[in-house]
Amino acid sequence: MVALHLGQTLEYRGDPFVEGPAAVVHRRRGAIAVADGMIVAVDEADKLRAAHPQADITDHGDHLLSPGFVDAHVHYPQTAIIASWGKRLIDWLNHYTFPEEISFADPAQASEIADRYLDLALANGTSSMCSYCTIHPGSVDAFFSAAKARGMRVAAGKTCMDRNAPDGLRDTPRSAYEQSKALLERWHGVDRLSYVITPRFSPTSSADQLAALGALWSEHPDCLMQTHLSEQVDEVAWVRELYPAARDYLDTYETYGLLGPNALYGHAIHLEPREAERIAETGAALIHCPTSNSFIGSGLFDWPKRLGERQRIGLATDTGGGSSFSMLRTMAAAYEVGQLTHQPLHPAQLWWLATQGSARAMRMEERIGALAPGMEADFIAVDLASTPAITQRAERAEDIWEAVFPTIMMGDDRAIAGVWIGGARAL
Ligand code: GUN
Ligand code: ZN
Repeated sequence: MVALHLGQTLEYRGDPFVEGPAAVVHRRRGAIAVADGMIVAVDEADKLRAAHPQADITDHGDHLLSPGFVDAHVHYPQTAIIASWGKRLIDWLNHYTFPEEISFADPAQASEIADRYLDLALANGTSSMCSYCTIHPGSVDAFFSAAKARGMRVAAGKTCMDRNAPDGLRDTPRSAYEQSKALLERWHGVDRLSYVITPRFSPTSSADQLAALGALWSEHPDCLMQTHLSEQVDEVAWVRELYPAARDYLDTYETYGLLGPNALYGHAIHLEPREAERIAETGAALIHCPTSNSFIGSGLFDWPKRLGERQRIGLATDTGGGSSFSMLRTMAAAYEVGQLTHQPLHPAQLWWLATQGSARAMRMEERIGALAPGMEADFIAVDLASTPAITQRAERAEDIWEAVFPTIMMGDDRAIAGVWIGGARAL
């Protein structure tokens, strides 16, 4: 049975960072055809109605049909400590994050927060994400079980740490390897779930632990590997002390087999030229977390340099270092960082980053992040007039991007009128 969803549509035919907004086809009365959880066609509404006269039709009016948002870096265990005041990175980890993560030794806590996080993500139109869990294997089981029950495509992994973390929150090189391997074997490729090898960052991993996880990745190179890189100046200096022989921060990963095309490096603000060059050469992804970078006081992602280097870039909330669950709010923050670095990002580029860009960073662009035949039917209906402030500005819009930009800058979960996962209504 084919289902037709009618509304405004945006179809990316190319990369808006190369072709600008011309990469996008906007249809005022467009439609997507969905069958068996997949998108089978995207076209003018009239054409698809004629082609599928028996289809079940949902008319979304002026709402914009978009791929569900893809959040390329989150910490679901930090859901309940979002918006915690007054600390910078290392203090913030010690004061708020680590005590909260210790509580995930209790599977009931992990399960409650996994459910809460995924419900908040869906309410904000986010249908896929790449999440850190805690060091507890049960925190990974809880997250994957909750995502599986919702039919979502998600990636996640056990956060490994064997030093500079409190009691109750440290593993060892060997247990990190063995637990990660067991979780990978249990979950990777089950339904829509992917396992991600996850050393938290160099300050909380010994060289032996990084090497053990590098070995695991070499045994499973199809897996993603996620970690943090050059987020805050103090952190970079600390890494230099902890790894005096390393050429730079990236080298602490590179030396132990943790650099490759399937790597995702969160933040990547204070990069040395060698690091940027190696990442671009390798095709690894940089994940921009703009609300987090302001909230924790980390600094500005260097948009002009990173675009000039043609880096693979994803966009993320970094919940709960980030201050929002919303990828709309995150696009707004990315725009502001672009302005502060003299690289005004076009709405076509911002929307792409929150969908296809993040999907590309996660190596999932063949499945999610676009409205196109053959893609999985994870999509949202976005109300471009969700509040009086947005509506009065959008009414003056002269093209689709002027109509979308007020929602990017001022929108939140009220703009998400509906969410479909694998073609089925989730919200
Ligand atoms: N660096 C290491 N761990 C974290 C974390 O949980 N959040 C952020 N923002 N940075 C980190
Ligand atoms: Zn993070």
